[in-house]
Amino acid sequence: MLGLRHYRGTAIDLFLGDITSFVCDVMVNAANASLQGGGGVDGAIHREGGPDILLECAKFGSCAPGQSVITGAGKLPAKKLLHAVGPIWKGGEHQEAELLGSAYLSCLKTAAELKLLHIAFPSISTGAYRFPLEQASMLAMQTVKGFCEEKPEALRRVTWVLFDSETYKAYQKALFASFPETEGDES
Ligand code: APR
Repeated sequence: MLGLRHYRGTAIDLFLGDITSFVCDVMVNAANASLQGGGGVDGAIHREGGPDILLECAKFGSCAPGQSVITGAGKLPAKKLLHAVGPIWKGGEHQEAELLGSAYLSCLKTAAELKLLHIAFPSISTGAYRFPLEQASMLAMQTVKGFCEEKPEALRRVTWVLFDSETYKAYQKALFASFPETEGDES
């Protein structure tokens, strides 16, 4: 079930699995504003990454929805960890779309600035935060597309590591809808 596109010098692809074992330059956590850990991918990242990550998060105190903070990656197979805080879905009239786009963009910009050329995202906000999957996946892809247009070749690869096949299929649909198939792409 490969999903791979190339766009303005960046590879965009999908992977079905556990992000904590996915080798990349920078791994993104779906954190909460307290940065004190939680369940879902946040729980898995702190469990697998070790206690140093939480100690580093504590230095930031908190992080507003739509923003992200960067720490070391502890025992995870990445150089750095970005803790992105997505919006809690409240029906769609509370800036949720803007905040989700901002959370992704914040990570893309930091990764490019620090030359962390392969970034791996989970499906931010579509778990405990209840953001509708189809809308979130399209928004995520459109945010990456806009970033690649503004900063071609700034990142080498953007991967979504998705935890279940329903989520994978939603992101695959959004990937194909957002990025036209070009020579050498696979679907
Ligand atoms: N690897 C990849 N994806 C995962 C993993 C994992 N190990 N564990 C869960 N997921 C998926 C979920 O299945 C979902 O598709 O990550 C997506 C996001 O779900 P959550 O982790 O619940 O994140 P979110 O919806 O952004 O809610 C964040 O939940 O865990 C708490 O502390 C966190 O309060 C914050 C809130």
